[in-house]
Amino acid sequence: MTTPDIIADLVIHGGTIVSPDTEYKASIAIKGGTILAIGGRTAMPKAVDYLDATGLHILPGAIDVHVHFRDPGYPQKEDFASGTAAAAFGGVTTVFDMPNTLPAISDAKSLADKHAIASAKAHVDYGLYAVLGEDSLANVDELIEGGIIGFKLYMGNTFGRIPSPTTGAMLEAFEIVAPTGKRISLHAETNSIMERREARLRQMGRTDPLAHLAARPAVVATEAVARAAILAEWTGARIHVLHISSAAELRPLAEAKARGVDITGETCPQYLLLSSDDYEAMRGVIRVNPPVREAENQDPIWRALVDGTIDMIATDHAPHAPEEKTREDIWTVDCGFPGVETQMPLMLTEIARRKASLSDYVRWSAENPAKAWGLFPKKGTLMVGSDADIAIVDTDLQWTINDAAIQSRAKISPWHGMKATALPVHTIVRGRFAMKDRRLQDDARGWGRSVHAIQAMPPAELRNTDQTMAAVTSPRRSSVA
Ligand code: DOR
Ligand code: ZN
Repeated sequence: MTTPDIIADLVIHGGTIVSPDTEYKASIAIKGGTILAIGGRTAMPKAVDYLDATGLHILPGAIDVHVHFRDPGYPQKEDFASGTAAAAFGGVTTVFDMPNTLPAISDAKSLADKHAIASAKAHVDYGLYAVLGEDSLANVDELIEGGIIGFKLYMGNTFGRIPSPTTGAMLEAFEIVAPTGKRISLHAETNSIMERREARLRQMGRTDPLAHLAARPAVVATEAVARAAILAEWTGARIHVLHISSAAELRPLAEAKARGVDITGETCPQYLLLSSDDYEAMRGVIRVNPPVREAENQDPIWRALVDGTIDMIATDHAPHAPEEKTREDIWTVDCGFPGVETQMPLMLTEIARRKASLSDYVRWSAENPAKAWGLFPKKGTLMVGSDADIAIVDTDLQWTINDAAIQSRAKISPWHGMKATALPVHTIVRGRFAMKDRRLQDDARGWGRSVHAIQAMPPAELRNTDQTMAAVTSPRRSSVA
């Protein structure tokens, strides 16, 4: 069927479209930022612009639900412009930015200020997280009103030292957020275990890179996942386990899913591709929370992705300046490293090596994140009516990652020197090129928009509402007999 009177903005032809189920050769027409038509070339409307994608794969742009863009507060590490430029170069069309900026995002004012920064600078779409902590429990409504994608709860300390709530405060936080339907993303590391261990290791004089791993063994994360899952099950709160780093976390995650808890999980390339064998050579560069662990964790984490226990790939893009990553004493090295730009190349390389499919990858990188945060099918898929968020990728290109050439301000990462076999060539955000032929499209700065407005979470299934803190302390219920 031809549609001669409609003129598309752009028709992409010659490429192979990757869906969560299959791959097929087809053209895509885009108009007004959304996908107008998908089909044979002759069925496409005329367009203002054409892109020949012969030999390339066309993927839904990745949704990275875990980045730290440091704006406001730490311009030497990253800002919203450099971070979203890195995303565009990595085929990532939506990012969810973490709230451990300076100030932290925990009330309406700090949130409004970050929205102003992001909307002025972003090259790609974004969602903003707000902190769910003891001090911000009273701010839940104003934060939702101000436009957030979800909440972040720090069960353990990490960069920014946002205090971790007690289990008591965490239960109340889950009770308060559950009825809103918002998902709570967890930094699931139990603070008391790792602080105790770190103190003892420091007393002993340990300052070597492996002391970081010794302070945070897998039980730190496993106990936190299990405990959070119990609180989510009790309240009906939706949760997301950030950066799954160990095989041991998979059991409480799978068991919670089997019990019907609305729990999702992500892992990151560092837990699939790096191991404790790398600390000696990489030293502080590899320091991250949770830590890169023993190599025997890698295969179980990969299998959990393949079987769906782990839902998605994110990066925990956590840029720091070279000087902050190369200090001798491991305890003084800032934790984290960039990743938003290299995730897709590294994961597509790994997919080819491990014989998973590109369809598997788009489920992990786009479809599942969009579904977990209520953005599907506007985001996370290439269907008629969806936002035209597209990564056009050469999946047969040998290249070597070079820290000096990345967009992120953090020109230091464990990925330096790694070989990859895939590279995004063009990235389109709502119909507009953010990156074209490996060049940043400067007119796309400020094009990125917050996705909270299109979020539609289904109603939560609340449990034990007669036993919440609010219920048991309500005046109607108290008796002084
Ligand atoms: O290593 C980390 N760095 N882990 C986190 O959870 C936070 C991040 C950061 O903000 O630097
Ligand atoms: Zn993080």
